[in-house]
Amino acid sequence: MPTLLQAATSQVGRKILTGLTGVFLVLFIIFHLGGNLAIFGEPDAMNRYSMILHDFGPLLWVARIGLLAVFLIHAWIGISIWLKKRKARPENYAVYSSKGGPSKQSLSSRTMAFTGIVLLIFVIFHINTFALGDMETVLIDGRETHDVKALVIDTFSNSAFYAFGYAFTMLLLGAHLGHGVWSAFISLGMSGKKSSAIMYTVGTVIAIVLAVGFLFIPLYIYFGGGCEAALIQCT
Ligand code: HEM
Repeated sequence: MPTLLQAATSQVGRKILTGLTGVFLVLFIIFHLGGNLAIFGEPDAMNRYSMILHDFGPLLWVARIGLLAVFLIHAWIGISIWLKKRKARPENYAVYSSKGGPSKQSLSSRTMAFTGIVLLIFVIFHINTFALGDMETVLIDGRETHDVKALVIDTFSNSAFYAFGYAFTMLLLGAHLGHGVWSAFISLGMSGKKSSAIMYTVGTVIAIVLAVGFLFIPLYIYFGGGCEAALIQCT
């Protein structure tokens, strides 16, 4: 009988692990977009959300490190599957075809390794900018808390590099999820012809909503002039 490690590192085991870690990451990204959209809510909504997160104290760091570990496992297995495929098929085909149902080969599927590596580098840079960045403090319900909202607004309204760099990376996020969500569902067993077609549509919709939701934030802040923008209340 194979050990758990042998099962997890087998070809099927690795596909299932990329699928499971991918689903977990998408759930985090949906939750994170919800928190970020609070920037358009009541003046203190985003900082209140951040305060609730920070109230978890050291547990927040346990969650962040756990999340990074899931990210690294997902990237490591994803890259190893990609390298194996490349080794088996070193020449790029001029025409992509698939056995059975219609091919799901697309620019999104062929650039998974590239978009994935860019996203991994982005997350490290991003945590350094926003989770570890220098912040003022504000009072919420008489308690001093980090002014994460001001940091986000200052960063995007004063720097075209950040605003457009983030917007571009969010397009890559959309491209990665466009193929990734469907692929995760297939790896987790929804590979019937009909369910595959439904999951492809579901994956595309999730990818578009998340990419547009995230890229709207830096571009709106940049072009709207930060606190001057109609949808943002700073006081
Ligand atoms: C416009 C896009 C984004 C904005 C404005 C944004 C904003 C933020 C902010 C303000 C924090 C710090 C939260 C706090 O400490 O209170 C944070 C943390 C984080 N962000 Fe983002 N984020 C964006 C996109 C993303 C994307 C696309 C990912 C993943 C692919 C991501 C992953 C993370 C992670 C892993 C953390 C650390 C965990 C946490 O504190 O929640 N972010 N982000």
